[in-house]
Amino acid sequence: MGRPGRSCQRGPHSPTASLQRTGPGLDTMSAFTHVSFVLAAALAVATCLDVPKVHLSSGGDMPIVGLGTWQVTNDQELETALDAALQSGYRHIDTATIYRNEHLIGKVLSKWLKEGKVKREDLFVTTKLPVYGMRPADVPDFLNQSLAKLQLDYVDLYLIHMPFAVKREAYDNGKINEDGTDLSTDHLAIWKAMEAEHKAGRAKALGVSNFNETQIERIMKQAAVPPANLQIELHLYHQQRPIVDFCKKNGVSVTAYSPLGSPGSKWLALITGKELPDLLSLADVNEIATKHNKTSAQVLLRHTVQRGIIVIPKSSKPNRIQQNIDIFDFTLDDSDMAKLDALDKGLDGKLFDMKHIGGSEKHPEYPWTALLKK
Ligand SMILES: NC(=O)c1ccc[n+]([C@@H]2O[C@H](COP(=O)([O-])OP(=O)(O)OC[C@H]3O[C@@H](n4cnc5c(N)ncnc54)[C@H](OP(=O)(O)O)[C@@H]3O)[C@@H](O)[C@H]2O)c1
Ligand SMILES: *[C@@H]1O[C@H](CO)[C@@H](O)[C@H](O)[C@H]1NC(C)=O
Ligand SMILES: *[C@@H]1O[C@H](CO)[C@@H](O)[C@H](O)[C@H]1NC(C)=O
Ligand SMILES: *[C@@H]1O[C@H](CO)[C@@H](O)[C@H](O)[C@H]1NC(C)=O
Repeated sequence: MGRPGRSCQRGPHSPTASLQRTGPGLDTMSAFTHVSFVLAAALAVATCLDVPKVHLSSGGDMPIVGLGTWQVTNDQELETALDAALQSGYRHIDTATIYRNEHLIGKVLSKWLKEGKVKREDLFVTTKLPVYGMRPADVPDFLNQSLAKLQLDYVDLYLIHMPFAVKREAYDNGKINEDGTDLSTDHLAIWKAMEAEHKAGRAKALGVSNFNETQIERIMKQAAVPPANLQIELHLYHQQRPIVDFCKKNGVSVTAYSPLGSPGSKWLALITGKELPDLLSLADVNEIATKHNKTSAQVLLRHTVQRGIIVIPKSSKPNRIQQNIDIFDFTLDDSDMAKLDALDKGLDGKLFDMKHIGGSEKHPEYPWTALLKK
């Protein structure tokens, strides 16, 4: 268990000390992206500036740990989680149009902002253009709706959620119609509309999610504002080394979704027929956790963060939320890293092929072509 309140209540324990102690890990991080530790002398509890940040190509810095919010739509559950997160020092929140919880996040954030407990410029809010909003004219429309729900004038990062698309009418009250595929998707035209939002100041940074290298490269070649972030499934069994290297080379920061292997997504096993792996109970992970007096979740998150990758673990439980950001007072050594690196299963470790989204595999922009042949 992490020490309660640690990441936010260090008091005299300076981030400089942790910067030195975590030397090897940080070298890796700064080789990838510019990770700026904010050296605030007086670390006020409410500012919690000691979470490292990853610099984005379009300007701005993204806290390397954020709160995931997928599958949290209960008002009270979300409020408890977000309050706990903000109290524990989280300033980065990941949501999406399709999560149907932006209005709840907006409610909590506006409370914190109004009470002066947090400043807008210290928050980093990401949301996403839905798979049913994949026409250029949809971009301002959906972003406006998100901003209204979040009660914000801008988001810090706006992502295209999926490379494939369904027609707008295919979405009905949380469900996506089987035969609603929109085959006419034009990423470059959508990206131009995304850039217009960036220019207008409604999206400080732009990025994509679930895109592959070819798709990212095509946008980069044409873009005035290249993608600053790629959000992909990434965890111990699916370490995504090739695309992370590609992003590193091209100045695109990477966010790991399902960094704990999404243990709550039990429904997934029912669809795929594959058992959901329990990364938190693996012997190697437990052993390394014991060695550092940390939890398995903290080891999994630290392993990814030490590669310079942003993590957005989801939890609704305050003690876990606190624990998941308390990963900056220890370093995995080379042998720990090598052991964990070796557990990668590549494409076989992938959990989400998104085939549950109506018609995705028939779409010309379905990103994981290797999964189609199987
Ligand atoms: N772009 C995309 O297409 C995409 C896809 C998937 C996810 N995401 C984003 O990534 C976020 C994270 O992914 P995810 O929600 O799939 O999975 P995850 O963060 O890997 O795992 C969340 C699950 O782990 C449990 N958990 C959290 N902390 C724990 C701890 N310290 N010890 C033990 N169990 C713990 C949670 O249960 P409790 O809540 O009960 O603690 C929850 O069931 C999402 O919420 C979403 O914001 C994006
Ligand atoms: C291990 O961590 C726990 C909880 O964070 C703490 O109470 C305990 O003192 C630690 N033990 C050692 C040996 O550091
Ligand atoms: C979105 O909001 C902006 C600013 O309020 C406004 O200028 C624009 O017309 C809106 N666009 C749509 C499609 O609603
Ligand atoms: C990315 O997806 C597109 C569309 O399916 C495909 O043509 C391309 O080969 C894929 N690229 C990679 C690197 O998988």
